[in-house]
Amino acid sequence: MRGILAALMRDAGFRVIEAASGEQALEVFAAEAPAITISDIALDQMDGIQLLDRIKQLDSEALVIMITAYSSVESAIAALRKGAYDYITKPFINEDILQTIRNALRQRELFRENRYLRRELKQQYNFENIIGHSDALMKIFKFIEKIAGTNSTLLIQGESGTGKELIAKATHYNSQRADGPFVAINCSALPEHLLESELFGYVKGAFTGAHTNKIGLFKAADGGTLFLDEINEMPLTLQVKLLRALQEREFIPLGATKPVTFDARIIAAANRNLEEEMAAGRLRSDLYYRLSVFNLTLPPLRERREDIPLLVRYFIEKYSRALNLPPKSISEEALQALINYEWHGNIRELQNAIERAVALSEERIELPQLPQKVRETPLGIRDLSGQTLTLEELERRYIFETLRRVNDDKAHAAELLGIDLSTLYRKLKRYGR
Ligand SMILES: Nc1ncnc2c1ncn2[C@@H]1O[C@H](COP(=O)(O)OP(=O)(O)O)[C@@H](O)[C@H]1O
Ligand SMILES: [Mg+2]
Repeated sequence: MRGILAALMRDAGFRVIEAASGEQALEVFAAEAPAITISDIALDQMDGIQLLDRIKQLDSEALVIMITAYSSVESAIAALRKGAYDYITKPFINEDILQTIRNALRQRELFRENRYLRRELKQQYNFENIIGHSDALMKIFKFIEKIAGTNSTLLIQGESGTGKELIAKATHYNSQRADGPFVAINCSALPEHLLESELFGYVKGAFTGAHTNKIGLFKAADGGTLFLDEINEMPLTLQVKLLRALQEREFIPLGATKPVTFDARIIAAANRNLEEEMAAGRLRSDLYYRLSVFNLTLPPLRERREDIPLLVRYFIEKYSRALNLPPKSISEEALQALINYEWHGNIRELQNAIERAVALSEERIELPQLPQKVRETPLGIRDLSGQTLTLEELERRYIFETLRRVNDDKAHAAELLGIDLSTLYRKLKRYGR
């Protein structure tokens, strides 16, 4: 049946990839991202409905056409409820199935146009390079949209690599200051006196080496946004000067006598807990309150794992493009490992891992191209969308993974799993094998 269908579709000009089981289909799906998936509902092992579920987890917009016997249309209806695009009953007329495929392709075009429009809209708001669909991120988008237009200070907290600078830029480009400059400085990167002269500038002769006037970043950011990164690293004496500048909306450059006014919106970022820094006396509390008129905390990536698959695809595309290659694919196993990993370096660490994997892999990224720490946890407690697995699904995976490792030696697997052989057979039967 599969052969006949494949031949029919090839004759009609489609590129067809065949898979002999649900498991294999899932591998192919993850690797090739086909435009349309066609599956019988009655398969051995994983059945067609389960396959549909898993595919939808990988790509909620995937188009799946189910084939079913005329006598079991109820299962096809169930498939439609679970998001199948359409179903075809056996025996079918060739023209019917081709027509269904063409319809599905048209639907796909519509999806794409739609996504394109959405992207354009986002681009307008400059959120287009901030990837993710977690509730946490959606709340952040809403928050930024709401506060971007104000001139108030914003304090962004979050672990390193969570996207603080990216969010600061989005805030800037969503404000009426978007045409003005976005000026960033890392407060931990310079010794105190250099940081001060960078921020406030100096006049000629203010100190040895001050051969000309230098305009400070506060002034350079006029009409735009000044981003003070790692504010928690700013020395206390400079914190006093910063506070005064924020309060008075003016400052005195080194060696100058007259104050200079400025018109920059201030956004500060910190990768430490600032309450603790205040308690330890490393951060002035009056400065903290002045900076945190609006306050935003970016959650670490491990607390929004549902964003990982999207980020992975985004970075794969980005780095494939940089190499002038079509987007590489990724194996399900590799994607799963990426989802399970803890990512203490957050999105920056993930980005680096993907950049490396894209460079190392052939057409498809596999487990061996991932960093060792990531590789070491291929079997996890989450599904491909980052949701925690049910106990049953976890058990099923654990059993199948163990069997795979012992080349399907059931007695050996039962021993490793610590259960009787008969229990293993009973479980396998329940899991459709
Ligand atoms: N949601 C996201 N979508 C795409 N790229 C992101 C996202 N968040 C962070 N990045 C990327 O990860 C890297 C680290 O982000 P950055 O804003 O510098 O983090 P932080 O300032 O918190 O250390 C940057 O290359 C940034 O573009
Ligand atoms: Mg940063």
